[in-house]
Amino acid sequence: MISVGITGTGKYLPEKVVTNEDIVNMGLDTSTEWIEERTGIKERRVAEENISSSDMAFEAAEDALKDAGLDSEDIDLLIVSTTTPDYQVFPSTACLLQDRLGLRNVGAFDLSAACTGFSYALTTGAQFVKSGDMKNVLVVSVDCLSRFVDWTDRSICILFGDGAGAVVLSEVDKDYGILLSELYSQGDAADLLMVPAGGSRRMMSMDILEQKENLVRMDGRAVFKMAVNSFVPSVLNAVKKAGLSLDDINYFVPHQANLRIIDLAAQKLKLDKNKVLINIQKYGNTSSASIPIIMAEAKREGLFKDGDIIVMAGFGAGFTWAVNILRWGGINV
Ligand code: UT7
Repeated sequence: MISVGITGTGKYLPEKVVTNEDIVNMGLDTSTEWIEERTGIKERRVAEENISSSDMAFEAAEDALKDAGLDSEDIDLLIVSTTTPDYQVFPSTACLLQDRLGLRNVGAFDLSAACTGFSYALTTGAQFVKSGDMKNVLVVSVDCLSRFVDWTDRSICILFGDGAGAVVLSEVDKDYGILLSELYSQGDAADLLMVPAGGSRRMMSMDILEQKENLVRMDGRAVFKMAVNSFVPSVLNAVKKAGLSLDDINYFVPHQANLRIIDLAAQKLKLDKNKVLINIQKYGNTSSASIPIIMAEAKREGLFKDGDIIVMAGFGAGFTWAVNILRWGGINV
């Protein structure tokens, strides 16, 4: 079996910054203190009107290709994880991106697992390299949830931001790369976090628009509990299954949904604060893009050293969650 690692990372954040103060100034019944204390978020990025998911994905993908030292002709497969595609039904955002990147003779498809999208796409893409069928797979995770939140709902709009992250998956030295991936789903909790209408169950109508049922609805408290109770035990199991202990973890990279969730998870996993990567204060919850964005930032800062054990953990609507354990380095093949 071929070892598969992350050999390039990239990111893109829209230029427009919306601070907590900006949200207060929109007239919402909230405060900068409440938002920061309850979520850890200070500001988030919001895509300008003329920027779509594929535009953000393109920038992150180019960044990752450059970082990996690869050209578009080196890529054998493109996977885009998103729940906010450019077009509701088709074509896929992956096909739009494939064309813009000039990828030729490759498969390209979208994958939908909400905020867990990157973890699912990473796991899926890695299989093609692991089997020897493909050399380089490009995974791009992008979300533009600012288009799907009610900017008058103080419990939702404060949380989300837009952005894209990307990784290149390629062969690495033996015993490096992705050591273990575990995917989970629990559809009986689907209604905790959903966009209730606008799909095939209830097609768009004037009534739906008036009721804002085409926008995100969330039982925040229940999602909070579900998140902590699901991914924390799964991280413990995965670490054990990989033959490692919690002390072996050099970096923990959780989905950035709420700083309190991250802190609680770190506490339960007995991880030192300096091992936990956090950027939620700058970007809010960028959904499936959050883990690859933070990975790209950490790599640019030169944080990861050869042999470091990195545990990535995603969770989100569906309900879905996932854990990927990676040994960094070995990029000499
Ligand atoms: O990507 C995965 C998906 N999302 C998540 O993981 C989100 C998980 N949940 C959360 O992050 C938190 O539940 C929230 C940040 C959404 C809410 O924080 P909370 O501490 O769980 O607050 P709560 O929902 O229990 O609400 C407490 C109070 C309520 O008022 P009452 O009923 O006690 O009078 C809310 O109406 O806080 C109120 N509230 C606010 N007050 C000021 C809710 N949002 C705001 C706000 N400003 N922005």
